[in-house]
Amino acid sequence: MSSVWNEFPVNVPIDQLPEKRNQCFWWIIKLQPGQFQPVHVDPHLTGAVRPKRYAMFLQDWEPGHIFLYDDQIITNYKAGDTYDWEDEFIEHAAGNIGFNNRYTLQIAMHDEIIGDFLCKNEKAAVE
Ligand SMILES: [Fe+2]
Repeated sequence: MSSVWNEFPVNVPIDQLPEKRNQCFWWIIKLQPGQFQPVHVDPHLTGAVRPKRYAMFLQDWEPGHIFLYDDQIITNYKAGDTYDWEDEFIEHAAGNIGFNNRYTLQIAMHDEIIGDFLCKNEKAAVE
């Protein structure tokens, strides 16, 4: 086995985001037609101080590409449009029932982790 890249060839514009935190991580999600992410909260932010999430669409919206945030379905976005939220218990989901792959850049930030990772139902149970 040999190394084929010394640097990941993507420039994620973290410095251009309006708000930043001490810790930041990002990932790209590719949903092929027929794939989906069921309604969920991000468990890696439920024990975090000052969580911040960004979701950037990497392509123009196409029929069948779905982003659900709380009670809203976001459509007609353009490549580069970026949505943000801070409530780690807001439920969201994504899906692709279209013809082409769906790509998004996901960015999560927080100042520190102080608690256990909880899902929404677990949080309600301990309150
Ligand atoms: Fe998520």
